[in-house]
Amino acid sequence: MSERLDPRALWNIGYGLYVVGSVSGSGQSNAQIANAVMQITSEPPQVAVALNTKNFTHDCVLESGVFSVSVLGHSVDMNLVRHFGFRCGRDIDKFEEWDYVNGVTGAPVVEKHAVSVFECRVVHQVPVGTHTLFTGEVVAARVVDPNMKPLSYAEYHSVKKGKEPATAPTYRGRAAKQEKKGESAMKKYVCEICGYVYDPEKGDSEQGIEPGTSFEDLPDSWVCPVCGAPKSQFSEV
Ligand SMILES: Cc1cc2nc3c(=O)[nH]c(=O)nc-3n(C[C@H](O)[C@H](O)[C@H](O)COP(=O)(O)O)c2cc1C
Repeated sequence: MSERLDPRALWNIGYGLYVVGSVSGSGQSNAQIANAVMQITSEPPQVAVALNTKNFTHDCVLESGVFSVSVLGHSVDMNLVRHFGFRCGRDIDKFEEWDYVNGVTGAPVVEKHAVSVFECRVVHQVPVGTHTLFTGEVVAARVVDPNMKPLSYAEYHSVKKGKEPATAPTYRGRAAKQEKKGESAMKKYVCEICGYVYDPEKGDSEQGIEPGTSFEDLPDSWVCPVCGAPKSQFSEV
């Protein structure tokens, strides 16, 4: 992982989790999961969404110039995420077996698991490489369930144990793999008294240390298995 660009630093940006719905030029309703949604002005209220150019929802928004957003709450289940976030509306009709209401813009609005919903008319569309950034003026908005709390993207990961496909702007796959690789390349430490090398990939079965335990995670009571020197006598290889 590059020292100058650690992608994990971006994982701390805060988002929510949303269903973005729209309708194609031929009238097919569709929707996808998105986390890249934010309000950008209050007067008039405008929001921005970043949609991958490969997504069917992206083309629907281009064609109709409207989109809906459902702010998902804590009740959301992985069934909804799988349905709208990992499948493409070009392959299946996502609303064949999923309830929605027709919004005032004509975009489908998903209410199940939503805290609130709103609809927008596109004002700007900015190509940003793999995605298009659509800004839209909010033309209708209402709270669906005042008692439910919105689910944050951090909670989607930590509580729901969720992931995102490569089409999401915040895709972690490559960085997560690099991180795993980094973990397995944990540093070795040498005992300056006897030359024994602690290898985290092997651990130390005699003292009950599992393979994969980094030197930093060894208990303070751990000693060199050869000469009995304490951790303080070790240095990085
Ligand atoms: C947690 C999560 C977050 C996502 N965030 C975005 C996003 O912000 N923008 C985007 O374009 N795709 C995002 N996606 C990916 C789309 O939901 C996914 O590509 C979907 O299958 C597109 O469906 P469609 O082709 O029917 O439009 C996300 C998916 C998940 C599961």
